[in-house]
Amino acid sequence: MTPLPWFLNNQCPLFLAPMARFTDVIFREFCKEQGADVMLTEFVQADAIIRNDPRLWETVDFTEAQRPMGIQIFGSNPDSMGAAAKLLVERMSPDFIDINFGCPAERVICMDAGSSMLRDPRKLGRVTGAVVRAVPETPVTVKIRTGWDESAIVAPEVGEIVENEGARAITIHGRTKEQGYRGEADWNLIAQVAAERSIPVIGNGNIREASDVIRIRSETPCAGLMIGRAALGYPRIFRDIKQVLATGKSPVPPTIAERWITIIDYTRRIMARPFREERHRDLCWMRPKFIALTKGMPGSRKMRGELGTVVQIEDLEKVAARHCERFGEAFPAGACA
Ligand SMILES: Cc1cc2nc3c(=O)[nH]c(=O)nc-3n(C[C@H](O)[C@H](O)[C@H](O)COP(=O)(O)O)c2cc1C
Repeated sequence: MTPLPWFLNNQCPLFLAPMARFTDVIFREFCKEQGADVMLTEFVQADAIIRNDPRLWETVDFTEAQRPMGIQIFGSNPDSMGAAAKLLVERMSPDFIDINFGCPAERVICMDAGSSMLRDPRKLGRVTGAVVRAVPETPVTVKIRTGWDESAIVAPEVGEIVENEGARAITIHGRTKEQGYRGEADWNLIAQVAAERSIPVIGNGNIREASDVIRIRSETPCAGLMIGRAALGYPRIFRDIKQVLATGKSPVPPTIAERWITIIDYTRRIMARPFREERHRDLCWMRPKFIALTKGMPGSRKMRGELGTVVQIEDLEKVAARHCERFGEAFPAGACA
């Protein structure tokens, strides 16, 4: 059996949650620089990996500096899941393979994958076992939700099944499929599974600041914590949390101009990557990312309207400069060149 992932022997590491269309290789670079300990690619479909779809190889790309890195796969057929995991391990050598059993999106449910699997824990176990056997040298982890809905909570049962199938850690997003991303995460249930299982449990759901981490660490035996949406507009969250844990003092928040400099730097780095798709030639496709990256900034309604018209990097700089000006900050000319 593969050993437990070494990064989980650490002191409750902070994971960046996989978020499709947002946690690309450049965004992960920022989070790593800001102190994220462990990261995953967004999910990729096993069958598409087997078909050798070139776009997917870009999705699963990562740099050595980003390790420990996991690649996340989804699908419902044990053989193709195993075959895809093997191809990914051979070509990318990730530190672990993670299986997505939590996605609530309709297109994934239709394939009987993602959170659909929570309706059939035995099948979920077969998929896990097939992946574990296909990559005997690489730890396999799974990411689940608590269940399909409130009347079908399966996290304790699934925890036991995947542990018996050889999974080396389990991440629990403390919401049901029916909850989507709304409402509170059930940390009592996460704590229960973490206490019952001998493999590490990574807790996930609504961690927004250092005080959440301090509370969860004292109330649950989680071996790691995973942060999703709170990192999207604010990759510095990892650094802030670590600073509070180390010193007890909250860091000075970044200025609006500093946040824009990060966003523009990110955009430049994304656009410098080789693209295969014509639609990636200008910034129109990045507008949803800009909305996520500016989350929590003051005066966002007007600024978001402006972001909806951005085509070139110069347009983005103008939006940044106008927004800073509205809040009495100077946007330093040439700061992002
Ligand atoms: C836009 C978006 C995309 C996501 N994509 C994935 C994904 O590819 N794989 C996955 O396991 N979870 C995915 N998730 C779920 C997150 O990893 C995480 O479990 C969820 O957001 C709860 O954490 P949070 O409350 O800290 O945001 C996604 C969530 C969002 C908001």
